[in-house]
Amino acid sequence: MSAFDPAKNVPGHIAIIMDGNGRWAAARGLPRRDGHRAGAESVEAVLRACGDLGVGYLTLYAFSSENWKRPESEIDALMGLLAHFLKEKTPVLMENNIRLKVIGHLDRLPGRNQRQLEKSIALTAKNDGLTLVVALSYGSREEIVDAARALMEKAKSGELDPAALDVETFARHLHTVGIPDPDLLIRTSGECRVSNFLLWQISYAEIVITDVFWPDFRRPHLEEAIGEYQRRHRRFGGL
Ligand code: FPP
Repeated sequence: MSAFDPAKNVPGHIAIIMDGNGRWAAARGLPRRDGHRAGAESVEAVLRACGDLGVGYLTLYAFSSENWKRPESEIDALMGLLAHFLKEKTPVLMENNIRLKVIGHLDRLPGRNQRQLEKSIALTAKNDGLTLVVALSYGSREEIVDAARALMEKAKSGELDPAALDVETFARHLHTVGIPDPDLLIRTSGECRVSNFLLWQISYAEIVITDVFWPDFRRPHLEEAIGEYQRRHRRFGGL
């Protein structure tokens, strides 16, 4: 166990692959949707902890572009949970000075979710505490293709010289424009995969994998992951 020191370098941006909701439910003989419901409580706990600890950005992988392949009943349950979360928690975001952002293909979500998200994003836009970034219908390869397409359009119209394309210009065409790269990537439930999440942005992130299922993940687990991050020495390719 790594000792966590709140006075030391707390990561500015934490990204989390919230995994294990289904296995958490199966272990209790419950339907998968109950695992997702319990997972939404972890979201609130982690959100509060990040706010308290002075984390600047928290990005949560809530629904991947591949998740559309799940049974319709599970997709409906997840979209229902998102709707419930936004209705119940937008006032909590306001009280805690939290700004909401979304990455992914919002236009693929049900209309009700889109409208609610747009409202919550607009309402919280001026908050300057923690920024909560929710990845919805998100896939990193699609995001990179979107950026490439936008850049090719600019090159075609003469707005961009292909020879002048650099890392910074490319990054400005990703869904995460204006959001710093994650310092720490956490994945729960013991899986050691990146699963098409922020492939460009995690180039130098420290990765911490915990065996804990997402619905059991609470502040002490977050602090343990931050402790592990603080113990590592980040070199960014240097010495
Ligand atoms: C992965 O567990 C989790 C998801 C696909 C969904 C994450 C969603 C939530 C935590 C709920 C609500 C979120 C918000 C922002 C309101 P899994 O189903 O793949 O679990 P398994 O690998 O054990 O089957």
